[in-house]
Amino acid sequence: MAEGKGYGKCIMFNEHFVVYGIPSIVSAIGDATVATAEETESGGTQLIDSRPATPGYKEEKKEQQEDSLRRILNAMNIPLNKNLRITLKGNLYAASGVGASAASCTAIARALSQLFDMELDDNRINEIAYEGEKGYHGTPSGVDNTASTYGGMIWFVKGEPSTFDPIKIPHPIEIVMGNTGTVANTKAAVAGVQERKEKNPELYDQLFNQARNVAHDARKALESSELKEVGRLMNVNHQLLQKIEVSNNDLDTLVETARKAGAFGAKMTGGGLGGYMVALTPGQSLQEKVAKAIEKKGFSVLKTKVGV
Ligand code: PMV
Repeated sequence: MAEGKGYGKCIMFNEHFVVYGIPSIVSAIGDATVATAEETESGGTQLIDSRPATPGYKEEKKEQQEDSLRRILNAMNIPLNKNLRITLKGNLYAASGVGASAASCTAIARALSQLFDMELDDNRINEIAYEGEKGYHGTPSGVDNTASTYGGMIWFVKGEPSTFDPIKIPHPIEIVMGNTGTVANTKAAVAGVQERKEKNPELYDQLFNQARNVAHDARKALESSELKEVGRLMNVNHQLLQKIEVSNNDLDTLVETARKAGAFGAKMTGGGLGGYMVALTPGQSLQEKVAKAIEKKGFSVLKTKVGV
């Protein structure tokens, strides 16, 4: 049986802005999706999804997942009706905002590469995962699959071609990710930004310039371990995301809750309009404290690290 892994991710800075070529900072998190693949006697290509998940997530994403798998098979020149069983598992919670779709695409590409002795390198796995992501997002920036494939903390700029550099930080940093429990539609959120940007080009240009500055300042602060400054910049980034209207009440409540409990900074993460937020909580005791405050509000959390 062949096996492959893809990391979950947390966008630390500039989701949405990244779609327009503004630099973003993303990190793999400790949690991952594992795919296994085996050839079978009959039944065509089957996908068994055994990941832990937010209620409703798998049903909501079923069609997109089928489209994604077709794209992955096509990209790997594997016939669509091949007798195969692919199983998804691992500890990454399948939910909006943690890179669940990208992690599954990377994991599937790696498992199939191993099953058919293709010996694909990470660059090719990343390209195939990007093709798979199109089934979920339409025109993804590529930030998620890059984090899922390579791991670590990454400076990512979408372009022709997209570029990315590892960001070296001295130690992994504890974070808390709070789950609104709502399954978010990234495609719709991205389309909404585009529509509003076309109506208000001047305002959006200003906001995009501010987002660019935040990314550059955040990179410096991360590289020099100025974590209070990183947190402050996350707060600024959340404000910009509110201004482009991709946050919502639950995300704002969780962000406020985390800050009140002592987080260095907090923001929504990923597509928004639901899904996850992230709080920077260096050290285990602060992580616990912030996690408890969010849980007390009735939301579930993921306690993990960035820069792993
Ligand atoms: O919804 P997620 O966690 O997959 O994140 C999407 C990130 C966006 O910047 C909103 C879209 C993209 O393609 O980068």
